[in-house]
Amino acid sequence: MSIHAVSPLFVGRARELATLGDALARSRAGSSSTVLVGGEAGVGKTRLIREFTGHGAADTRVLVGGCLELGTEGLPFAPFTAVLRGLVRELGRDAVAELVPGGNARALARLLPEFGEPGKDGPEARARLFEQMLGLLERLAEERPVVLIVEDAHWADRSTRDLLTFLIRYQRTAARLLIAVTYRTDELHRNHPLRPLLAELGRVEWVTRAELRRLTRREAVALAAGILRHEPAAATMDLIYARSEGNPLFVEALLSESGGDEALPESLRDLLLAGVERLPEETQELLRVASAGGQRIEHALLSAVAGLDENALSRALRPAVAGNVLVVDGEGYSFRHALIREALHDDLLPGEHIRLHTRYAEALERDLTILPAPRGAIELAHHWHSAHDSTWALASAWHAASAARKSTAYDEQLRMLSRVLELWDQVPDAAERIGGDRIDVLRQTATVAHLAGEYERSIAMATAALADLDHDADPIRSATLLRQRGLTRYDLSRPGHVEDLRRAAALVPADQPKLRGQVLESLSRMLHRPEDQPERQATARLAMEIGHEVGDINVETHALITYTWGHARYSDMDTQLESFARARRIAHGGDAYNALMRCAISESDALEGAGRHERAAQVAREGAEGARQYGLARTSGTFLAINLAEPLVSLGRWDEALQVIEHALDLAPPAPYRASLQGFAADIALARGQFDRAERLLAASRSVLSRGSFRDQTTLPHLCREIRLPQACGQLEQAVETAARALEEHDLASSSRYAWPVLVTIAQLVSAVVPAGRPLPGEGGQGAAGPLARLALSLLPRLRAFGQELVADGELQQAHRLMFTALTGPLAGSTAGSTAGSTAAAAAPEPDGEAVAWRVKASDLAAGAWEALREPYAEAQCLVPAAQAAFAAGDRQGAAARLTRARDLARELGATPLLEQLDVFGRRARIGGGTPEGPDGQPLGLTARELEVLREVTNGRSNREIAETLVISIKTVSVHVSNILAKLGVATRGEAAATAHRLRLFD
Ligand SMILES: Nc1ncnc2c1ncn2[C@@H]1O[C@H](COP(=O)(O)OP(=O)(O)OP(=O)(O)O)[C@@H](O)[C@H]1O
Ligand SMILES: [Mg+2]
Repeated sequence: MSIHAVSPLFVGRARELATLGDALARSRAGSSSTVLVGGEAGVGKTRLIREFTGHGAADTRVLVGGCLELGTEGLPFAPFTAVLRGLVRELGRDAVAELVPGGNARALARLLPEFGEPGKDGPEARARLFEQMLGLLERLAEERPVVLIVEDAHWADRSTRDLLTFLIRYQRTAARLLIAVTYRTDELHRNHPLRPLLAELGRVEWVTRAELRRLTRREAVALAAGILRHEPAAATMDLIYARSEGNPLFVEALLSESGGDEALPESLRDLLLAGVERLPEETQELLRVASAGGQRIEHALLSAVAGLDENALSRALRPAVAGNVLVVDGEGYSFRHALIREALHDDLLPGEHIRLHTRYAEALERDLTILPAPRGAIELAHHWHSAHDSTWALASAWHAASAARKSTAYDEQLRMLSRVLELWDQVPDAAERIGGDRIDVLRQTATVAHLAGEYERSIAMATAALADLDHDADPIRSATLLRQRGLTRYDLSRPGHVEDLRRAAALVPADQPKLRGQVLESLSRMLHRPEDQPERQATARLAMEIGHEVGDINVETHALITYTWGHARYSDMDTQLESFARARRIAHGGDAYNALMRCAISESDALEGAGRHERAAQVAREGAEGARQYGLARTSGTFLAINLAEPLVSLGRWDEALQVIEHALDLAPPAPYRASLQGFAADIALARGQFDRAERLLAASRSVLSRGSFRDQTTLPHLCREIRLPQACGQLEQAVETAARALEEHDLASSSRYAWPVLVTIAQLVSAVVPAGRPLPGEGGQGAAGPLARLALSLLPRLRAFGQELVADGELQQAHRLMFTALTGPLAGSTAGSTAGSTAAAAAPEPDGEAVAWRVKASDLAAGAWEALREPYAEAQCLVPAAQAAFAAGDRQGAAARLTRARDLARELGATPLLEQLDVFGRRARIGGGTPEGPDGQPLGLTARELEVLREVTNGRSNREIAETLVISIKTVSVHVSNILAKLGVATRGEAAATAHRLRLFD
């Protein structure tokens, strides 16, 4: 019997095979899925996968990559490099390159040098790499189903984990892709980084988890029989089962050690080593050497480290392969089981350990190309580090850092740079070794930490470097560091970013035009406040010129876009559009995709702000398509989805907008983008009367917005929703209070584009609480009298003052202004007439003829403005007061015409609450159709009594109070209430009250 015999027979695991088989069947049918296979070491994860791909997945393309252990962490992207290498071997480099989206495989060069030199690495480099990998899998899966196997994820480093998570999250965009991940559960200590990841992935709908248990006794007997080729004696089996506890690797080892009947070593480790100890001494020595090289070792490296000639090496290797301790694996060898290597490595004496790692390091120093880049540099750093040689550990970590950067393994790079910093004081000539001083290392660390998303660390590193620098003596590095820190602070919305950039701009010498252009460009982008406008324009202009002179296309185009924005007026779009076109031409010429994306974002936003919704949607859509091609669908692409959703909402193309939003949310965009997308979805839900949904969406974006400081473009639309939702649900007090706070706390003058909708929202709220023509408190009226109406009315002077002062730049803002005026009465200089207003706002107790005529005219003007802008919802909203005023003026026909138009628009949009409001008005005024009335002429089929009860419910009364007021029994009240809820199709008293408010049943 051979040592460590492996059973040819595969036992048990029917359920796990079925799980994998089901997942594959789903993937085959177009619903890609993932199975996470966990289990202790040796329990049979790899074997299970092998059996599955060998039989169940015969017609598929199987791609396998394993995570490699290296020190305490793994080798960055190792499984994916292995997968790519396998593909290149099978299909050839060019065929693989053709499969990448856009046919440009340069991003893959970050994983495999065969693809050439990677392009420039900007912050998007990593996003592109991820997208290209996914794109490649998508294309492969079009041919035939793909099974991607990532083994031993417990050793995955963060870069590998990130890419794996990304692929799993987005795998649904690739039909027919099954991902299987194996990991050791016994390695997952409490703080193991895979733990939270597994929990997170476990919640993804298409991810299943399979836990491999130990074998049952019956299965263990079958396994033993498979190895022994006969059924073992029951007593032997008892012993083996008791010792192995059903772990198949253990069963194998026990059997190969003794056939089951000799005295057995105590632990699995000893068992595994016992197998090795029977090999010739020179083979054992070679295995010890190999154990320091990792789970898989290249032949060339082993030969270099072992210092044996080919013959001697073969002689020593043969028994290890024959004895099934090593297996031949491509151009190298793997330990048959990782535990054997671990046992061997753990058994090394400390001196031996250091000596061996030194030998590896020296062999790699002699010829780094023994290993494919970037592995050579990274493994070299590992061996010097394990050899405890500070000097070489420092130097090699520095080189490994730049190798890691190439593959966008930012975390690995960060770790290497941190190691350099840690060792710095122990190496007297560190600066000469790396050709730079400690400040250079800190500077690089700050940059990489930023890229890795470790903002705090980035700021700390830059601050430490700045503290050590003499700014006057070293202005270039000071300026670079200040810029870096400013950019990071800006990303974190931390104060001090503008100051950092201003200082950098003051420091950067004139003979450094490239750096100067970058600093000025960054500075110009951060100057948002109105009072900084002149500085921003001057800075952007200068940056633009410098960028042009030095040929820095990124600086030139970004500065041009900033400049264009800076003096943009929505009323003068043509100049702006020309500038955007110019920026786009320049960016195109230099393949500056980051600038191209910004151009699409800025232009679509400018168009939307000018009310050119169709064109805005088109630019955003084209930009999103570009983002997909550049491999930036999830970053710039989702931002552009916001800019596409916004005009679609304006245009009333709500279903289309919802599709765009849903698709973008599927891509799991960054939280602030998500909040904006959810905001638009909430707008639609509100207008369609889906208040629970609106509340959920609003709660989600609220929680994001509470965690940072955001600009007006995000906060003000959110504010409108925070007022409209309670208003729509009948919680008028809350709505009015929020509105009052908004007028107190927000600087509405700073951004007219986003301030106008707030003013309109509050004006609509006030006129809902105190409708036009209603007697005012203290003037004999009853319904609206009270603290709420008073509070609402008290908002008016301030509201009108804001409206008076706020500029209305461009047609969109002018439409808002007209709508605002129609609701609150004429503003000075308004085109809609100059007589005193007659709305609640103007506090007219009775609508006299002139005032009513003014209202008709003002509302019509607003509706017409919205019609011209093709915003049906806003138009329909303006038609309500227009119809009401026309009716009040005695123009029944005119009222009916407006009502019909509004109703058509609202129906088309599915804007149920507005439709109901129109119906109620139509029914009351007896014009047009309307809400079906009950047999006794009451609205919504409610009886007169039910209507009375509903009025009390709407006033917030309890059943007992209602019973007292109406002098009926509590029981009767509760029967009425149930009937009311049923007739209104609502679930709670609150919702019933909301419906009553909405329909103005008791106005
Ligand atoms: N169901 C099975 N039937 C027969 N042999 C098995 C079975 N499961 C595992 N084995 C054998 O047990 C040994 C260990 O299994 P395997 O290498 O798959 O474990 P693993 O879970 O992948 O361990 P590790 O976590 O160390 O990678 C192998 O030699 C394998 O052939
Ligand atoms: Mg395994």
